[in-house]
Order: sequence, then C-alpha cells, then structure tokens
Amino acid sequence: MGIETDILAPDHWEAALAALDWQVELGVADWVVDDPVDRYGLPERLTPAPAKAAVEPPVATAQADPVAEAQAMAAAAPTLEALREAITAFPHCEIKKGARNTVFADGNPAARVLVLGEAPGREEDLEGRPFVGRAGQLLDRMFAAIGLSRTAPDPEMALYITNVLPWRPPGNRDPEPEEIAMMRPFLQRHVALVDPDFIVLVGNTPCKAVLNQTGILRLRGQWAEAWGKPVLPMTHPAYLLRQPAAKREAWADLLSLKARL
Ligand code: URA
Repeated sequence: MGIETDILAPDHWEAALAALDWQVELGVADWVVDDPVDRYGLPERLTPAPAKAAVEPPVATAQADPVAEAQAMAAAAPTLEALREAITAFPHCEIKKGARNTVFADGNPAARVLVLGEAPGREEDLEGRPFVGRAGQLLDRMFAAIGLSRTAPDPEMALYITNVLPWRPPGNRDPEPEEIAMMRPFLQRHVALVDPDFIVLVGNTPCKAVLNQTGILRLRGQWAEAWGKPVLPMTHPAYLLRQPAAKREAWADLLSLKARL
C-alpha cells in the first residue's frame, strides 16, 4: 500500500481529525501564516531591510480608553438588539479576534431571574448561545428542578441567561481583569435593559464583575445587593460536574431562590 493510500485510510484521517480537535480545544483558532515557510531557503531571504530613520516620526493617535468607550457605546444602546450590535462592534477586546460568534444571551428577556455566567466555552462559541455544553445542560436541569426554564414564555417561570464576556477566551482560560473591566459597562446596561427581579451569579467571574469579590465557595448562598438588585452567588455547574458532592449546597441555594420568588 502506497503512502497516499495510507493517508486516506480511516484510522489516519480520524487521528488527524482528533489532533485537529485537540488543537481547537486548546484554543488554536488561526493559521499563523498563509503560506508554508521554506526554512531551508530562509538564509537567502534574510537580506537586510532598508535602514530605518534613526527616530520614528511620532504617530499622533489619541490613546483609546476601552472602558470609557464601552460606557459610551453601552449608554447609547436603547434596546437589547442595539446593545447586541454595540457589543459586536466593540473593537478593544482581543479575545473577540479568536471567537467564531458573539454570544449575547438566551432565554426570555421578560424573566424575573437573570443567570450570569463567565464566558462562552467551545460549544457556546460554535453555536452562538450561552450554556449549551455539558455544564449548560446541568444548569438547565438545576433550574428546571425549581420550575424555571429558558424556554418558558411565562416570565414567572422563565430564565434569561448571559455571560460576563461574550467571546470565548482562548483555551477556556480565565478572563483577565482588563477584559472584565472593559465589558462591564455592557453587562451593566444589559442588566438594566432586562431589569430582572433577581440575579444569580454562577462562579467566580460574575462575582468579580458584579460584586468585585471572589471566593465562590465562601460567597455562595449568601444574598447580596448589587446594581439595585438582589444577587445570589452559586457554584458554577462545571464545578458541580467535577465535584458532585457540592450539588447538595447548590440545591440549597436553588431553594433559597425559589423561596424569594
Ligand atoms: N460556562 C459559562 O460560564 N458560560 C457559558 O456560556 C458556558 C459555560
């Protein structure tokens, strides 16, 4: 069997696909160069570049302030649709470049409960909706247990779901403080437009963004007040998938929300 035929054999292309999937999982989103580099030819290409002027002429551009720009763009959005467009047009958050979709929100904007997560993962980035992967399926089951669902038309039984960051961080790394800070004005406007009765913060990142606190295992279950709303920190469903024993406390937190509703 020749080499070409070997490469076409299913076990080869399945292995190649698995390797590609693995790289995507790590956050690889782009090829580094368009054309293959002939490294043997490299020395010939290393002809010295024309000498530059000793001093580069100053570039007179005003330094952008991403937070101030986000505040202005968010304040100018009168509706959720306008806010979605403003976020999509916001140029300063680097992780946007590696994302396939801007993941804005899902569920019923008339819901009494807004669930705030961290950032899209791989499935969410591909689908363009928050919490659709394994953690999202657990989140749906958890809230269904107290009679709430993102597909319910009745605001009393509905959920609205969004994230602190609308773009997937590469390799699912934690959001950087600067990323949270520049997206916070959009988030605050999002909450104001939806105007829920309660906000559930799932995990550390939303606690950082809304309460400026971290330490979810200490914060969980303790009601707080932020942005004029009662907020309830809870452990993230991804954590519950890893630590099933923590589901008992999460259940207590859900019952506490149900009692308030
Ligand atoms: N985890 C989150 O915090 N948000 C999502 O949308 C998916 C996973």
